[in-house]
Amino acid sequence: MLMKADVAVIGTGVMGSNLARNLARQSGHRVAIYDRDVERAQKLAADFPEADFIVASDPADLAGKLAEPRVAILMVNAGRATDSAIGDLAEAFAPGDIIVDGGNSHFQDTIDRGVRLEGTGTEFAGVGISGGEVGALLGPSLMVGGSETAWQRLRPLLEPIAAKAGDEACVDHIGTDGAGHFVKMVHNGIEYADMQLISEAFTLLRDSLGMTPAEISEVFADWNTGELESYLIEITADVLAHVDEATGRPFVDIVADAAKAKGTGAWTAQVGLDLGVPVPTIAEAVFSRSLSSAADLRAEGLNLPGPRPGAESPALSADDRASRIDEIGKALLLGKVMAYVQGFHEIAVGAREHDWNIDLGALAGIWRAGCIIRARLLDRIVAAFDVETPPENLLAADFVREIAESCQESLRSTVVQAIGHGIAVPGLASTLSYFDGLRTEAGSAALIQAQRDRFGSHTYARTDRPGVFHTQWSGDRAEVEV
Ligand code: 6PG
Repeated sequence: MLMKADVAVIGTGVMGSNLARNLARQSGHRVAIYDRDVERAQKLAADFPEADFIVASDPADLAGKLAEPRVAILMVNAGRATDSAIGDLAEAFAPGDIIVDGGNSHFQDTIDRGVRLEGTGTEFAGVGISGGEVGALLGPSLMVGGSETAWQRLRPLLEPIAAKAGDEACVDHIGTDGAGHFVKMVHNGIEYADMQLISEAFTLLRDSLGMTPAEISEVFADWNTGELESYLIEITADVLAHVDEATGRPFVDIVADAAKAKGTGAWTAQVGLDLGVPVPTIAEAVFSRSLSSAADLRAEGLNLPGPRPGAESPALSADDRASRIDEIGKALLLGKVMAYVQGFHEIAVGAREHDWNIDLGALAGIWRAGCIIRARLLDRIVAAFDVETPPENLLAADFVREIAESCQESLRSTVVQAIGHGIAVPGLASTLSYFDGLRTEAGSAALIQAQRDRFGSHTYARTDRPGVFHTQWSGDRAEVEV
């Protein structure tokens, strides 16, 4: 009898092929592959004979080639392609089999898909996979959602292929149904914020200090040896040092200034709005991409008055320049920490809302390697939660306070500098407002509540005694308790 496969990968695009090759490299794993474009799957098998892939020609054929209970990992586009792949497999699979969605699906879709499969007995697990194509091949970070039974079945397959932080595999069971995709969504929201803040730091170095991309690359390389050390800082240094072959110009200068997005950042902002969780740095990162791509509006906006970034770079002494660079680095660090505070807040509230028991420290642990937001900072987040009484939110962690102490002045002066130069820094500026909003004892919301009661009898709470009140504004202005 032919040997059956232990796991299947459906979809042999870049991510699917690399994940399948990663699985096949692990000893004792035989991997089946299936793609609607059967030739593409056959080509993958022919290109990598060492993987010894079993190629299936259709879902029924695949079901016959998989050992039971079957495990199939979907690596197809989120949305309709995922639904139709699940539909195909569900017909061929039996109770106890597991369909894993390894794409960037919306967590609510994952919850709904699990519910739809309930009657069939086939399990559904939504797994967030981060690390891009290299991560998929060499070790991604894997955020598993689904039942405990599914996790026990998936664990031996996923642990060997995950990235390693020290000797810990970057894979964990996050919670039931959509929990894995929820935290992957927030991971991406933090990724958007991080990229935005880094890009603003680059723009400030270029337009307020007149530095070249090559010089800025060195600054990033230097930052990557300290607290800012992270994958995104590392690749930024690399990208900035790259020269376009065709023109001889810095690569970053020939790339069109219009950012695209596949939607996970927008979801993080939308879910933040739905849950009433402030995630301004993440939301501004999404809006910034939208603004960058709003060509007509930007063409119109070019005529607006104000200082022109980069028009004149002040002649600064070497010491002053070094201290400005240092300030920008500190502003970036505090911005990054605040983006994490926002992301972890959203996860904590999302977990309460959906009844997921998410271990925030363990989650930070599996983000330390393999994923796009991997960073030295995550070690401090892990340590902050690894105490007898973990903090309710990241803001309460000692290291956040320390970074706030040492960096808030720099964030403030960096934003002031940017404003003076007419340089847009929505990520840094909104982070500073978030930070100051958090520190404010008596803010502007009191007036908002008063206005709401004035025009719509929406009631208010008082600072001096409990209860819900309304002032009879159009009458004698007497206050009533409601
Ligand atoms: C990852 C990434 C990945 C994401 C891309 C592109 O964790 O590996 O987050 O999932 O899809 O980075 O995202 P955008 O096209 O939205 O920038």
